[in-house]
Amino acid sequence: MEKLLSALRAAGEPTRLRLLALLGHGELTVTELTHILGQSQPRVSRHLKLMMEAGIIERFSEGTWAFFRLTDKGQEGRYGKTIFDLIPTDDDLYLRDQEKLAEIRKQRREEASKYFENIAEKWNEIRSLYVSETDVEAAIVDTIKPLAVKSVLDIGTGTGRMLELLSPIVDQATGIDLSRDMLGIARTLIADKAMSNCQVRVGDMYNLSSSNEAHDLVLLHQVLHYADDPDAVIREASRVIKKNANLVIIDFAPHQLEFMRDQHAHRRLGFDDDDISRWGANAGLQIKNVQHLEGGELTVVIWHLVKSS
Ligand SMILES: C[S@@+](CC[C@H](N)C(=O)[O-])C[C@H]1O[C@@H](n2cnc3c(N)ncnc32)[C@H](O)[C@@H]1O
Repeated sequence: MEKLLSALRAAGEPTRLRLLALLGHGELTVTELTHILGQSQPRVSRHLKLMMEAGIIERFSEGTWAFFRLTDKGQEGRYGKTIFDLIPTDDDLYLRDQEKLAEIRKQRREEASKYFENIAEKWNEIRSLYVSETDVEAAIVDTIKPLAVKSVLDIGTGTGRMLELLSPIVDQATGIDLSRDMLGIARTLIADKAMSNCQVRVGDMYNLSSSNEAHDLVLLHQVLHYADDPDAVIREASRVIKKNANLVIIDFAPHQLEFMRDQHAHRRLGFDDDDISRWGANAGLQIKNVQHLEGGELTVVIWHLVKSS
């Protein structure tokens, strides 16, 4: 009962209950929480610390920023979520805080979309060169759905589109990316679409923070062509994949569009099946299936690899 009592004590104070109500809707920084509550930063931090000690919320750092969220693990996670579910959503203070939260999200979205305008134009240019995105996504879902995935790591998640696609068919999805701006957009998407089983973190594909054999699917969607050492990326991906579990790589077949290097920062002009098979074998992965999606200047390929036991 000790854990339950400390969860109840931690949430049993007006400001802390308001904080819990806000964090139940997504990850927020202390600055954002301070702004919403209209209280001083030291005070908000003290309340957050108490709730962290009780294990109902958690903190994670991203460079100089620190985010807080409801814990989704263990008994404490269940207690935090249960208390959150009990909060009356017609309460005046609750409604006022939610209004301020919506303002902050709107602001974040505007900043993110300003950034995305430039990038999106470039991505659309590439998209026009291959089979429709809808066909590619349908093939990805067909590949992944039968795998009954519990935990997926989406490397180079960008704006989080793969998380959105996979959220309904996996238990838990984590996206990592080097770009904070991209993750800003992904975070807004996760909050807007209430994708409560998804989260994103800053991370590097060469040095993942996941522990060994942590995931039953790792995804590299249109990311490997940025790598100067794809072999190392696949080895690092394999490290965090459980035995008998899956790596799905979606990228281009070899092509000659040199402008992809100058204008889109691609390092590799596609990959052939032998490249992927060799790098996979170096990392203890065997090719299970390969699909070539033709229908434009570029051919999109889905390589499904499985880690040997
Ligand atoms: C084409 S974009 C996003 C593709 C994304 N998977 C999707 O489906 O929309 C490629 C992403 O890879 C990220 N990236 C590049 N190098 C990376 C690295 N070393 N580690 C993690 N992400 C990286 C970029 O920041 C970018 O967001």
